[in-house]
Amino acid sequence: MTDQSATPRSFSASAPLQGRIAIPGDKSISHRALMLSALAVGESRVTGLLEGHDVLATAVAMRAMGASIERRDDGEWRIHGVGVGGLLQPRGALDMGNSGTSTRLLMGLVASHPITATFVGDASLSGRPMGRVIDPLSQMGADISASPGAKGTKTLPLMVRGLAPAIPLAYRLPVASAQVKSAVLLAGLNTPGITEVIEPVPTRDHSERMLRGFGADLTVETGPDGTRHIRIAGEAELKPQTIVVPGDPSSAAFFIVAALVVPGSDVIITNVGLNPTRAGLIDVLRQMGGDIEAIDPRDVGGEPVADLRVRHSMLTGVDVDPAVAPSMIDEFPILFVAAALAKGRTTTTGLDELRVKESDRLAVMATGLQAIGARVDEREDGLIIDGTGGDPLPGDATITGHLDHRICMSFAVAGLVSRAPVTIDDIAPVATSFPNFEALLAGLQR
Ligand code: S3P
Repeated sequence: MTDQSATPRSFSASAPLQGRIAIPGDKSISHRALMLSALAVGESRVTGLLEGHDVLATAVAMRAMGASIERRDDGEWRIHGVGVGGLLQPRGALDMGNSGTSTRLLMGLVASHPITATFVGDASLSGRPMGRVIDPLSQMGADISASPGAKGTKTLPLMVRGLAPAIPLAYRLPVASAQVKSAVLLAGLNTPGITEVIEPVPTRDHSERMLRGFGADLTVETGPDGTRHIRIAGEAELKPQTIVVPGDPSSAAFFIVAALVVPGSDVIITNVGLNPTRAGLIDVLRQMGGDIEAIDPRDVGGEPVADLRVRHSMLTGVDVDPAVAPSMIDEFPILFVAAALAKGRTTTTGLDELRVKESDRLAVMATGLQAIGARVDEREDGLIIDGTGGDPLPGDATITGHLDHRICMSFAVAGLVSRAPVTIDDIAPVATSFPNFEALLAGLQR
């Protein structure tokens, strides 16, 4: 049966991509900017906020819990916070849509407030594991009842009954997850004493940077083995801020790879966030021979940023070091596309986390790439891909996107270097993180 509400879209062999584009704001930073502004006392101003569905779900939820959040006509967002400890009981369920970040971080906030919130989401989000945040938040005293998911997992819909005062915790992360780390730190904001997260493998540190920027007492100590101890003093008072959100490297990734693989391309992508905990893809693509030049490196809102000039390059397969995985965790789908066009073999390992993203990204990418004629072997924790050596892929298939924006955009890019069109069954999920993806692509093809 076909889904009447789906919007299929086909992508076919492209002329060289040329020109200059500015990508939208960083999704991770945008969520955090709204949440922390909503907890500060006074008015914060945010420019460059990503206006994708995921971030808008966070805005709606923070409003439901008492913050005033308005978008001005010039694109600036103004947020009046309620103060740490001041979140109000939401009247209805909080609809998180497709957004794992909204869900897990907001569960942390609710956990240490004297309120109860029900979290619901779409089919993709409702299949994702929530036990990873339920465990530490329950240890802090929150009472959480979740739905039973597949293979013993706990999923949405779920209800969090917060405890105030909550119990401070020292928590060692069992999975490399910035969302789990952030959920515990955000719960710690309204918890008396010191809440500590011990992070054996570094993940994106936007929460730490921004919490400090808002005036929280947060320290990071790195041990000799690289383990990070992040400590936050609770019952914090956050001071309102003016925030400029840098461009999202995870969105830039699709255009970086598109410019590398479409012959004749030469593209400048402005204002790309290059936080080292996010920039792993650029290192790997350079290792593969990608011509990516960083121009005018600078600081935007406490985050390193540069413009990137990317030119078509002959890529060579590599063994991707699993240690870089957290710094490019959302970029593997598009890296797999680059690998499918490279000369030789690319091997990836240590990617079990990709199976619990918006879709099972190892299985969905393997099946989709095979359908368009790439040589891919799916393993338990990674893919092995033998590339075409720069020749176009056969294409000529319809890909199921599984409500996963990054799957849709990865196959859109694959379509640009395929002999016959690649059709995405439903392009709508792209709007969760990159509403103007198609418009920017069309601009570079002119
Ligand atoms: C995010 C963390 C990552 C990433 C997600 C955004 C964040 O998830 O995949 O898109 O903003 O903290 P995990 O923490 O599950 O790795």
